[in-house]
Amino acid sequence: MAMAASALQSSPDAIPRADARIKVTGQARYPSDMAVANPAFACLATSAIARGSIRTIDVDAARSVPGVLDILTYQNANVLKPVKIFADGGRFGTSIVPLSGPKIWHDGQIVALVVAETFQAASEAARKIAVSYYAETPSVTIGSDGVTVKPVADVDKTHKDPTLGDAEAAHGAAPFTVDAEYSTPAQHHNPIELFTTTCVWADDKLTVYEPSQFVYGFKYGIAEQFGIDPDDLHVVSPFVGGAFGSKGSLTQRTALVALAARRLKRPVKLVATRSQGFTIATYRAETRHHVRLGADRQGKILAYLHEAWELTSRPDDYNVSGTTSTAVMYDYGSVATKVNVVNADRNTPGFMRAPPEVPYMYALEAAIDELAVALVMDPVELRRINDTMKDPVTGRPYSSRSLVECLEQGAEAFGWRNRSAAPGSMRDGDWLVGWGCATACYPTQISPAAARVRLTPDGSVRVSIAAHEIGNGAYTVIGQAAAERLGLKPENVTVYLGDSVLPAGPVAGGSNTTASTTTVVAKACDAIRDKLSRAAATAGESPLAGKPVAEFALADGRVVAGNTAMPLEDAFRHLGQSVIEEYAESIPRSMSPDDMNKLYHGHASMTGGPKGEKLAFAFGAQFVEVRVHALTGEIRAPRALGAFAAGRIMNPRTARSQLMGGIIWGLSSALHEATEIDERTARYVNTNLADYLIPVNADIQSVEVLFVPETDNWINPLGVKGLGELGNVGVNAAVANAIFHATGKRVRDLPIRLETLLA
Ligand code: MOS
Repeated sequence: MAMAASALQSSPDAIPRADARIKVTGQARYPSDMAVANPAFACLATSAIARGSIRTIDVDAARSVPGVLDILTYQNANVLKPVKIFADGGRFGTSIVPLSGPKIWHDGQIVALVVAETFQAASEAARKIAVSYYAETPSVTIGSDGVTVKPVADVDKTHKDPTLGDAEAAHGAAPFTVDAEYSTPAQHHNPIELFTTTCVWADDKLTVYEPSQFVYGFKYGIAEQFGIDPDDLHVVSPFVGGAFGSKGSLTQRTALVALAARRLKRPVKLVATRSQGFTIATYRAETRHHVRLGADRQGKILAYLHEAWELTSRPDDYNVSGTTSTAVMYDYGSVATKVNVVNADRNTPGFMRAPPEVPYMYALEAAIDELAVALVMDPVELRRINDTMKDPVTGRPYSSRSLVECLEQGAEAFGWRNRSAAPGSMRDGDWLVGWGCATACYPTQISPAAARVRLTPDGSVRVSIAAHEIGNGAYTVIGQAAAERLGLKPENVTVYLGDSVLPAGPVAGGSNTTASTTTVVAKACDAIRDKLSRAAATAGESPLAGKPVAEFALADGRVVAGNTAMPLEDAFRHLGQSVIEEYAESIPRSMSPDDMNKLYHGHASMTGGPKGEKLAFAFGAQFVEVRVHALTGEIRAPRALGAFAAGRIMNPRTARSQLMGGIIWGLSSALHEATEIDERTARYVNTNLADYLIPVNADIQSVEVLFVPETDNWINPLGVKGLGELGNVGVNAAVANAIFHATGKRVRDLPIRLETLLA
């Protein structure tokens, strides 16, 4: 096994993505593509105010549009049950149930759903619905009048703000200090596969085609909202065209479409517009941070204080509380953290790739850079001397931690030693050159999972698990794990994912898919190996007869013991079976059969990260070069390099693609992305891909990913750490730190754009 792993890691042409060909040839079927017979088309009408209630809703003009079949409003369709958000033990992105009454919680709340013979008729009718409101002045964001600010510890009894010693006193006494405020903006998911749902009823059974990161959660959540038997629900999502957290919790649209289809007794398809996606789904909330650091003359960090504020909706106290990661990052002498939620008249935010680490590590890693400047110390060196192999607060050890190796190997590859420290000192003509760095981290998490593996004598394998292909390479690495364990080629393996009829798989969240799925698939494969081995060892005429089964392996389509081997077909014959099918469950250490049972009922649970007896994290070091034009303030980022240690890398191709995507997202987040919010109306303004800025090809030049070898068999039997969310952590800070190095200007509010540098 170890041999196979290192061979894969070093191979420049690791196993290609299993679904590459069908994706590039348009054959991959996303839920939005699923053809159903005789569909009617739905369109949403959404609120024009952010706070208040509906006074009147007039659907007469809408009804008279030719082809309109049905219009659902709170007056005729108030039937959905209340639900809880995911973070609160529920399965939804928001507890705001549309059409449950006249109350308006946020701009863009669903106020009606129109169904018509064509999409065009439905959209025309939706525009003709006339709603009048009792409007109140909304509270928009952190710092606005009328918001409610609450410490998370007061609203969530399970929440702990990491604290160690007397950080105030230590900060006060430290010879070198930083005291700074940082902010990150709201950012919205803009998946290429929009928020779409198609519902088909047959004999009181409902099939839902919807892009999903958690088909089991969706099955039970929709059943709960409808009050029907979950066994009557089937959720189908074999591919997902852009997820990143936006499709892990249910939105409220799904049940509305199901309701419309039931009323109409006909399949109904909804494709919400991109603009509606900003308010009917979740987003990354804006955050603010007050960070203080204190250090001694040698750069040892004596105090880390971090208070944060996160925006959320009125009814839901959703928060990401990233100090659980930042507080274990360095060998701090003392720690004081506090996280607050700020309730405003907005839709409920939710998960977006590395939800806690992106904003919180930005604040910490920018502050670390400021501390390095104060100390006149190299920022890589400052991180190195404050490295820790244990949680500074509780003393628990890391299972493995290769941050220093990432920093050193990343610095070497980037050429960091050629950096001249003084800001503005690396000028190239009119361009001010800056180099910045930052730490990346992401908790290694694992979920219970079940899987079925089927093997036939010709060496064909079928793997079934309700895990999810969200672009991460799940089909590839799951098939690879089975092939490797059964001693067959990846092309012998067919993998089935993304369907609620399959054995329960984990939510595609928290970067836990690879660890959770490969663990359970390996277990099922080992059960197959054991059956074949026992048959081979006991059959009288077998060349393997009487040999110790524990030494048997499957390799090259044979059962192998030392120098002796038996073809699979013979082993099957001895077993007297023409197929072996094994169903396995894996329950991570420290979890219980109850957690497995929760998963069977559509509740996600994970362990790992900062939770267990050891801390489990993947690490990385980000290095970025920026060039800022001295006269125009134009910012370019010609070079980014990330060095990452994430345990065993199952597949360097899919891993590199995840990490590269993360770095690019990080550059986007630092320099481009922000949802603009109208301060009078609490309305999102740039709700389209023309105005919501993301980088184009010309903005991204060299992006390099290095793998730092790391072995950790404590985390799980395959030694796999998650890495999907690792790549975009730290990039914000690396860019901001590079811009300081280029210009001497410390910009603490993201994104950093030329107008800020010119001001
Ligand atoms: Mo991810 S933000 O855990 O889908």
